Amino acid sequence: MAGRIITIAQQKGGSGKTTLAAHLAVAFVLAGGGRVALLDCDPQGSLGEWFEARETSLGEDATGLDFRTASGWGARREARSLARDYDLVVIDTPPKSDIESRPAIEAASLVAVPVQPTPIDLWATAPTLEMIAKEGTASLIVINRAVSRVGLTEEMSAAIRALGHPAAQTRLGSRVGFAASMGAGRTIQETDPGSKGALEIAALAAEIRQALGG
Ligand SMILES: Nc1ncnc2c1ncn2[C@@H]1O[C@H](COP(=O)(O)OP(=O)(O)OP(=O)(O)O)[C@@H](O)[C@H]1O
Ligand SMILES: [Mg+2]
Repeated sequence: MAGRIITIAQQKGGSGKTTLAAHLAVAFVLAGGGRVALLDCDPQGSLGEWFEARETSLGEDATGLDFRTASGWGARREARSLARDYDLVVIDTPPKSDIESRPAIEAASLVAVPVQPTPIDLWATAPTLEMIAKEGTASLIVINRAVSRVGLTEEMSAAIRALGHPAAQTRLGSRVGFAASMGAGRTIQETDPGSKGALEIAALAAEIRQALGG
């Protein structure tokens, strides 16, 4: 069976796509999810920077992942080709451009949509959800940078869950470790195992595996 393709998409910039792509890829590897490849479709190249930092800190043969880049329509072809060799392919996409992200959404088994729980982020998510619905791809909204015990987070989380699109049970908190771990090419599960953030990303990865059918 071909591998599963998980595309991280959200037209709103800075919603956590790249952070989520790196963290999910490592979480799948740590959970014994098989061979995992990352595909960066964002010309900003942040995920590539992260992967290079990972190669520097762990050694080229010890990253536990493979990394490729693609752009435009090439993304669909590259994703399908990777899915022949890997169990999971995680795709990072750029903000703003639906032309750039549509091929990655088309190729996906599941699209994960990170959304920060604020009114502006919620409004800005509509075009992404519309595009996913139009392609008919399965999707999962992921609430990112949630701040616990804050009224706005709870109010917006409820509004996000009420959008009529599936949303993950697990929310990712706003935690320095998600940001800081990336600098050394690592993730919070590696730099701070057992932390709340590490448990959150492991739980989210498990939820996504379940949504993909185990
Ligand atoms: N859960 C989190 N807790 C703390 N910081 C976070 C979290 N998620 C993302 N960040 C930080 O938010 C910023 C934006 O994250 P990231 O670059 O992953 O978003 P993006 O959607 O890929 O952005 P772009 O649209 O520019 O590609 C980064 O500084 C990142 O470290
Ligand atoms: Mg990014």
